[in-house]
Amino acid sequence: MKFFIDTANVNDIKAACDMGVIYGVTTNPSIIAKEGKKFEDAIREISGIIGPDRVIFAEVIDMKAEGMIKEGQELVKLHNNVVVKIPMCPEGLKAVAGLKKLGIPTCVTLCFSSCQALLAVNAGASYVAPFVGRVDDIGGDGVGLITEIADIFAVQGIETKIVVASTRSPLHIAGIARAGADIATIPYKVIAQMANHPLTTNGLAQFMKDWENVPKD
Ligand code: G3P
Repeated sequence: MKFFIDTANVNDIKAACDMGVIYGVTTNPSIIAKEGKKFEDAIREISGIIGPDRVIFAEVIDMKAEGMIKEGQELVKLHNNVVVKIPMCPEGLKAVAGLKKLGIPTCVTLCFSSCQALLAVNAGASYVAPFVGRVDDIGGDGVGLITEIADIFAVQGIETKIVVASTRSPLHIAGIARAGADIATIPYKVIAQMANHPLTTNGLAQFMKDWENVPKD
């Protein structure tokens, strides 16, 4: 399972890329709004940080298929490796099919059921994005949903990639990795939590303390 970072914050993106663990960046309208920058400026700035080899997921705003397709055609001009995020809805599915004909990769976002994921697959999406944390928020089983989608995709031989969004904790990351997700898109705060363990902190402090007792030149 590959890691992406789920933010438009350039400092967080830079820090995660520098750590060497990030293959791409996912954004959405809420994430972009938090940074207070114009959409195209934000995407261009992120593109400059991630370089040509990583992927950037950028979302359309139009609610009609025709508009989504036009936006998608513009979005792919902003970086050499853009995946167009399309919301899960009938117009979105129509846009996915249209963009596929143009050879533009898409990710169907706001997926909350395996049936929605299967619709995205049949429309021709390259990726589906189920939201693990928001399913938990309403008393559902977020990791269970990812397990169900991954099991169905395996049984059916489906090649569409599962990008799990709305990850909120290291427990989510371990759970969705076990479930068989292809990608976890993670906020920086959770990446930092994943790197941390009290026994690592204590162990390192002890190593440094003991090092003082090693004879030096
Ligand atoms: O990628 C979607 C994600 O940003 C949503 O996260 O925590 O608002 O459910 P959250």
